[in-house]
Amino acid sequence: MHNTPSSVTVKDLSIRYGAVSVIDNLQLDIRQGEFIVLLGPSGCGKSTLLNAIAGLLEISDGEIWISGKNVTWAEPADRGIGMVFQSYALYPRMSVEGNMSFGLKMAGVPKAEIAERVAKASKLLHLDPLLQRKPSELSGGQRQRVAIGRALVRNVDVFLFDEPLSNLDAKLRNELRVEIKKLHQGLGNTMIYVTHDQIEALTLADRIAVMKGGVIQQLASPLEIYHKPANQFVAGFIGSPGMNFIEGQLSGGPGAWRFQADGESIDLAAYAFAQDPGANAPGGRKAVLGIRPEHIDVGPAPSGRHAARGKIDIVEPMGAETVLWTSFAGKPATIRVDGDNESGPGDEIDFHFDVGRASLFDAESGERL
Ligand SMILES: Nc1ncnc2c1ncn2[C@@H]1O[C@H](COP(=O)(O)OP(=O)(O)OP(=O)(O)O)[C@@H](O)[C@H]1O
Ligand SMILES: [Mg+2]
Repeated sequence: MHNTPSSVTVKDLSIRYGAVSVIDNLQLDIRQGEFIVLLGPSGCGKSTLLNAIAGLLEISDGEIWISGKNVTWAEPADRGIGMVFQSYALYPRMSVEGNMSFGLKMAGVPKAEIAERVAKASKLLHLDPLLQRKPSELSGGQRQRVAIGRALVRNVDVFLFDEPLSNLDAKLRNELRVEIKKLHQGLGNTMIYVTHDQIEALTLADRIAVMKGGVIQQLASPLEIYHKPANQFVAGFIGSPGMNFIEGQLSGGPGAWRFQADGESIDLAAYAFAQDPGANAPGGRKAVLGIRPEHIDVGPAPSGRHAARGKIDIVEPMGAETVLWTSFAGKPATIRVDGDNESGPGDEIDFHFDVGRASLFDAESGERL
């Protein structure tokens, strides 16, 4: 991937509305053919960043480059992008075919070429049997496919998606998610995809940019973000049920660090520190230990794992798996077990985890230790 040229580059981007800064000095470099997902809670600036790349809003500072050209001052239509929004706004009186070809007609593309491009997009998106229907005669998922088709026919290098699936029900969303992934595998275009749905992000992205307050918190592959979250915010945002966080402090020293929390003393020998934990506050540095519910196992502990015991408060069966609510170091904690687990409320259980799979954060900055 490293020799692949840049497709979209955002340099020193700032966006302010009056005194309110929404994005401050943001950097992002996207490689050709990459599928990038912008993920974060409502209001974190995902759409703002996407619209800035599309040229739909005025930026306060910085530059946008697309396919090697500085497009900071270029009109949206001249940027070589295709965009799909959450509200797909199809022309109601035009057929599916009309909706897909309209933009090309307006741009003066020759008839034969329009027909060819519409036919290709229609085939990719399974719209062939629907080409003569009006939007009102389509299901939500079919309409969304037409909206994607309308962007596809533009033959551009970069596609921008802003929550394209959020108006659909769960089943359709899953189906179209797979279609979008197939589409990307087949076309190989650059895609920038905004969502607040972590499953969409994890399943689609080559790299995820997790955003909060207009700042990219971490830009990495889905697995890196899942296993090695850069800070406590990213750790808590990815995963369902969320990561268990235990507040405590570090004790010991280099080569013999331990994590101390209410009644638990956890050997950190298996933990790979991302930074020197003793750098600023030897000994009692306050920290937060994070363990994913799926990384805790029930039963007697094999050697090398931290063992604990707790009482089950609540059992949440979810079919394939069950979530057990217990407590660890005096705080509520969840454990994900197999769906055929028969534990019930009030049961005492032994559980254990591998410290090497846990995450440690500085209690004040939230940064990964
Ligand atoms: N024209 C504007 N004037 C002032 N503030 C704005 C304007 N447009 C957006 N904002 C603010 O910028 C921030 C980012 O908005 P944005 O639409 O990018 O969020 P988002 O991450 O896409 O959220 P969502 O998931 O809800 O769509 C929000 O706090 C919003 O209130
Ligand atoms: Mg948005």
